[in-house]
Amino acid sequence: MDRVKIYLLLACLFSWTISVVRSEDPYWYFTWKVTYGIASPLGVPQQVILINDQFPGPNINSTSNNNIVVNVFNNLDEPLLFHWSGVQQRKNSWQDGLPGTNCPIQPGANFTYKFQVKDQIGSYFYYPSLGLHRAAGGFGGLRINSRLLIPVPYPDPEDDYTVLIGDWFTKSHATLKKFLDGGRSLGRPEGVLINGQNAKGDGSDKPLFEMKEGKTYKYRVCNVGLKDTLNFRIQDHPMLLVEMEGSHTVQNIYDSLDVHVGMCFSVLVTADKKPRDYYMVASTRFSKTLITGKGIIRYSNGKGPASPEIPAAPIGWAWSLNQFKSFRWNLTASAARPNPQGSYHYGQINITRTIKLVNSVSRGSGKLLYGLNGVSHVDPETPIKLAEYFEIPDKVFKYNVISDNPSSVATTLTVQPNVLNITYRTFVEIVFENHEKSIQSYHLCGYSFFFVAIEPGLWTPEKRKSYNMLDTVSRNTVQVFPKSWAAILLTFDNAGVWNLRSEIAENRYLGQQLYISVLSPERSIRDEFNIPNNCLLCGAVKDLPKPPPYA
Ligand SMILES: *[C@@H]1O[C@H](CO)[C@@H](O)[C@H](O)[C@H]1NC(C)=O
Ligand SMILES: *[C@@H]1O[C@H](CO)[C@@H](O)[C@H](O)[C@H]1NC(C)=O
Ligand SMILES: *[C@@H]1O[C@H](CO)[C@@H](O)[C@H](O)[C@H]1NC(C)=O
Ligand SMILES: *[C@@H]1O[C@H](CO)[C@@H](O)[C@H](O)[C@H]1NC(C)=O
Ligand SMILES: *[C@@H]1O[C@H](CO)[C@@H](O)[C@H](O)[C@H]1NC(C)=O
Repeated sequence: MDRVKIYLLLACLFSWTISVVRSEDPYWYFTWKVTYGIASPLGVPQQVILINDQFPGPNINSTSNNNIVVNVFNNLDEPLLFHWSGVQQRKNSWQDGLPGTNCPIQPGANFTYKFQVKDQIGSYFYYPSLGLHRAAGGFGGLRINSRLLIPVPYPDPEDDYTVLIGDWFTKSHATLKKFLDGGRSLGRPEGVLINGQNAKGDGSDKPLFEMKEGKTYKYRVCNVGLKDTLNFRIQDHPMLLVEMEGSHTVQNIYDSLDVHVGMCFSVLVTADKKPRDYYMVASTRFSKTLITGKGIIRYSNGKGPASPEIPAAPIGWAWSLNQFKSFRWNLTASAARPNPQGSYHYGQINITRTIKLVNSVSRGSGKLLYGLNGVSHVDPETPIKLAEYFEIPDKVFKYNVISDNPSSVATTLTVQPNVLNITYRTFVEIVFENHEKSIQSYHLCGYSFFFVAIEPGLWTPEKRKSYNMLDTVSRNTVQVFPKSWAAILLTFDNAGVWNLRSEIAENRYLGQQLYISVLSPERSIRDEFNIPNNCLLCGAVKDLPKPPPYA
């Protein structure tokens, strides 16, 4: 055999091996029993949501391209859905677990989610997405590790820890929901929790994490709270930022990091200080009263309690803006990425559409509403994804009820489903303009986007000159500081119906969100998976025959 033939043979064998490996991407099966329980994370007994008796819920650990199967048994007295925040669900908005994509799992029933964590890595979390369920727990960490063959730009840590931080209310999710339904705000949280706890500092606290002297650990931090940006830090231990929502970052060292609601990142921490206990701290930012949550990290050979002196958090949001500007994508690190065309050269793609979203609040006639471009979104009984798939959108919602370029801040809001139609595979700029005095945090499902700028003031097309068009981090949440704007760029190449929402629970629940429909021109399984066999049907599609499957 000549050399060329051998190469060809080897190449065939190699690609065959890869395809076999692909078809055997491992499956991880989970059975979740979801119940109410009583916990006292702030010393006051209160109702919480448990998964298999755990609060917070169990971690989901996976590797790129693994298949995850979660059979959820709803033993609450209310409908339930789980959302896998940050999992991109390529071609598969069927599994997104939001009121716009799925019918709820009824009390006493079970439903099995099945999805692949395709072409992505990173630190994420899941949570129950209906009403204010997240205020009661039910959330947990979700990590996607890099496949063994793909180099990670830092040495393997000694261990890998999930840190879920969030503000916390002692009132039940039902009471909080009543507040919002009755035109009241959520008010102030009573505390900040780290993995469902807050250290008392009286010697009785159990450590949340242990570190061996001299070793380096990875901490995956997510803000799963309802409203507050939190500043995260560890006494005496600087943090090396390595990953943010699925992207390897340029590795800078930080004494503390601001974590906006819904945001996640990973840091490396080395146990190279005097062996004893140290506090990990998360404290509220931009709020009138400072609320601090603590947890203990223990050196395994350590002696002595953590110092009661807690390092102070920075003040003001300019600090946070500067920190944002220091985040950079490591362009040379390899990693699973869903969007090869757009990944490296996003600065050279022409923008085909600009959508400016202006948030506003209205408090007329005893009602509290939040909206985007004059519309306060309300979930129709029939999920938007299903209404579209069964070809009865007209019965359920109208497309494009908002303008791409509102001329003013809406002072009155109309309540209706807010659904944008975005053309498949177009490169779109979304600008968030915040005229309010409060910070906003948004999340887009189904995608990772380039977060190219945040600046004080109002946006104009001229501002594009200040965009980072080279190495901004590709991610899935965006914060918008008070009286500021932020811009993101992305290619809408994932067919499906995707939620763009405020991560601030009160704003989201009262309408500051929308859905984006990205239709592939042909109904083809190349672009989008078929409706799953076990898909729950409700509302106007309950008894309709299923349209023919995609070819
Ligand atoms: C998580 O998954 C990775 C890769 O599959 C594995 O190496 C690691 O041991 C797992 N960790 C836990 C805590 O199960
Ligand atoms: C409910 O759970 C059973 C196993 O106990 C499973 O066979 C069935 O498929 C589940 N139903 C759904 C809709 O996922
Ligand atoms: C980026 O990743 C490369 C490749 O893994 C690594 O060698 C380099 O140190 C990283 N650069 C920075 C600035 O973190
Ligand atoms: C982008 O737009 C510029 C100017 O409008 C045009 O010259 C160029 O050909 C476009 N590039 C692509 C890839 O469409
Ligand atoms: C949505 O956009 C696509 C592509 O631009 C277009 O063909 C379709 O008619 C639009 N649908 C609606 C309802 O606006």
